[in-house]
Amino acid sequence: MSAVNVVAVRTVPRTADAIGLAVGPSGPVPRQLGLNRAALEEHGFTGKVGATLVLPNGGGATLVAVGVDEKPTAATLRDAAAAFTRAAGKRAHVATNLAAVDGVDAAGAARAVTEGVLLADYRYLGQKSDKSAASKLETLSLVVGQSDERAATRGIAQGVVTSDAANLARELANTPANLLTASIFAARAVELAGERGLAAEVFDRDQLATLGCGGMLGVNAGSVEPPRMVKLTYTPRTPKAHVALVGKGVMYDSGGLSLKPTNPMSAIMKMDMSGAAAVLATMGSLKALGCRNKVTAFLMCTDNMPSGSALKLGDVLTFRNGKTAEIHNTDAEGRLILADGLALAAEEQPDAIVDIATLTGAAMAALGPDFAAVIGSDADVVRQVEESAASADEPVWELPLAADKYRKLLDSVVADMKNVGGPYAGATTAAIFLSEFVGDVPWAHIDIAGPMNVDSDAGWKSKGATGFGTRLLIDFATSFTPAG
Ligand code: BES
Ligand code: ZN
Ligand code: MN
Repeated sequence: MSAVNVVAVRTVPRTADAIGLAVGPSGPVPRQLGLNRAALEEHGFTGKVGATLVLPNGGGATLVAVGVDEKPTAATLRDAAAAFTRAAGKRAHVATNLAAVDGVDAAGAARAVTEGVLLADYRYLGQKSDKSAASKLETLSLVVGQSDERAATRGIAQGVVTSDAANLARELANTPANLLTASIFAARAVELAGERGLAAEVFDRDQLATLGCGGMLGVNAGSVEPPRMVKLTYTPRTPKAHVALVGKGVMYDSGGLSLKPTNPMSAIMKMDMSGAAAVLATMGSLKALGCRNKVTAFLMCTDNMPSGSALKLGDVLTFRNGKTAEIHNTDAEGRLILADGLALAAEEQPDAIVDIATLTGAAMAALGPDFAAVIGSDADVVRQVEESAASADEPVWELPLAADKYRKLLDSVVADMKNVGGPYAGATTAAIFLSEFVGDVPWAHIDIAGPMNVDSDAGWKSKGATGFGTRLLIDFATSFTPAG
């Protein structure tokens, strides 16, 4: 849990040591700044969303002018709050009136500003001896009007839960693979489940073999570290609907015998479990948010390593649902472990399945770092994923499943399919592979290879693993309604 105490207040507390004041593109400038618009501009304040100007203030609190747009949205408020947090530096007690701007409902604004501050305040400290980068933030006071105080308090409570979840996903993804093995991840999941009202079951190698999870065993075959599958269940009193989530948890993706080169991209393959981390963090937030849907999750955890016992090209694997695949590239491992997870999820007969995975460089090539790809078998589930993405400002863009056109690219002489298609439409052929395992359950797949990581702070994303997909999935799981 975040150590920051976030409160709605009616006036700036005297203890505040940094105060963020919203400045719109037109109209009056807050009097407390002590400068008019011309003077702000003279000092380099552009007024754009997220632009900031720090004004030293004698012995008093540092004042920060924070640009907001003409018609603020939750997304622009979140980013403005993040910019304020970074501009304020390492302060213990910060206050802002950003949640009081017109145009966004009081609860939504308070939630977005809380998220922006707590997400920007996150830093991966890792194993550095120098801990000076650690957060100093203790209290965040959102100054709102009297009539908005209750709604703002509600929004704050949600924002604390969602940003804690995203920061947990980031912490797990940033952790080096030697310090976060599949067994350690599973133990962490069990511990979290205990704290957050979830049922948890862990499956080891023998149990996966008994279940017929040939994809998990195949990908794990080259590894010294054993695999783990974690099943988590959240069951509210009278569930409205049942959602299943499946996360790719490749603790480290070396490529296997189809070995990756030594480059910066391979160094961040410790983040190849970002899908499983997003699902785990989502599950951990459901009870606190009073989610009315039942949610079942499968975390598919193993690393992908080369060795004398590793999966080889030409090998054939049999998955949980009995289908078989011939391996043409051991670096296309994510779909092999998701296959078993999706088949198990489908057996639960949920109303919808969503999987999330750092699956293909092709999705990143198509959409870049700002969008995840969404591909599904069901237009209504895809639409609900898109709506949750918009509300979380974790943008997705739909790519076609197009099985009628491209399924043949997976045809194999010896098995039901190959594990790779041709050189084109790589995100789509990966999704077609996955679609073989969901039966007739409405399904959408989210490929987060592009947005899993950022090289420098940008809006609500802090340098390193982004936790992208966590707040999207939280919104999806809590708001999902089956098509009529
Ligand atoms: N984990 C990678 C995808 C990835 C790449 C995620 C870059 C994040 C950043 C995945 O397992 C992979 O290696 N995919 C291959 C598939 C190919 C062999 C068909 C790829 O995209 O190159
Ligand atoms: Zn991978
Ligand atoms: Mn790979």
